[in-house]
Amino acid sequence: MNIGVLGTGMVGETIATALTEKGHNVRMGSRSANNEKAAGWVKKSNNHASQGDFNDAASFGEIVFLCLNGAHTLDAVGAVDAENVASKVVMDVTNPLDFSRGMPPGLLDGLSNFNSLGEEIQKAWPAAKVVKVFNTVNCNVMVNPKLVNNGDHSLFICGDDADAKNKVKHFLVDTFGWKADNLLDLGGIQSARVTEAYVPLWVSMMQAVGTPMFSIKVVK
Ligand SMILES: NC(=O)c1ccc[n+]([C@@H]2O[C@H](COP(=O)([O-])OP(=O)(O)OC[C@H]3O[C@@H](n4cnc5c(N)ncnc54)[C@H](OP(=O)(O)O)[C@@H]3O)[C@@H](O)[C@H]2O)c1
Repeated sequence: MNIGVLGTGMVGETIATALTEKGHNVRMGSRSANNEKAAGWVKKSNNHASQGDFNDAASFGEIVFLCLNGAHTLDAVGAVDAENVASKVVMDVTNPLDFSRGMPPGLLDGLSNFNSLGEEIQKAWPAAKVVKVFNTVNCNVMVNPKLVNNGDHSLFICGDDADAKNKVKHFLVDTFGWKADNLLDLGGIQSARVTEAYVPLWVSMMQAVGTPMFSIKVVK
């Protein structure tokens, strides 16, 4: 499958690498078509890897991952022609974190409380099927859930399109080995408000347990 990964940071690289290793064709997107980090990633990856600007990567992908800096996600989203993501599943991994007052981070004004990045992305790309997922675990755990508790832990997912969420669930199970029973559907994209708001707590827990390689499991 052709997949666009928008973002050249550690999350974009981790997801893009895992996908190319599983045989998917991945185009990593950046502000510039010749971004050095993306070029370095292409050079060290197999022949399924390529690079382009944000618009090119979004256009290339049958599905699209958003691994963008939270403060600048909407700038990057705005650089993509909405028609290039129409009807596509978009997996949104971003968090609107504000580190300006130290650790743990807060959430950016205007993108929190009664709003979220997930919702703003869906508004910017109305014909895309935005699914918020992966934003509540470390990037190495995203692509290898067995790093924690042999893979037995919870992952939140939300989005307005039921069929898109179903596709994402199957993709996570088939591609990365997530256990279907551990994928907790919180409803529409509005629930991105609460999964994004969880992340400052995740950071506090990381500081308390001393490693990002942890997760939570919802039990009843
Ligand atoms: N670290 C984790 O394990 C983890 C876990 C869950 C969720 N997340 C979330 O994943 C996202 C990505 O995190 P990251 O650490 O990999 O990367 P990051 O450094 O937060 O973001 C890198 C991307 O943001 C883009 N960017 C930066 N400034 C921009 C601007 N002014 N306009 C447009 N785009 C801009 C960069 O574009 P260029 O390529 O052009 O430089 C780059 O592609 C974040 O939202 C983070 O909260 C992280």
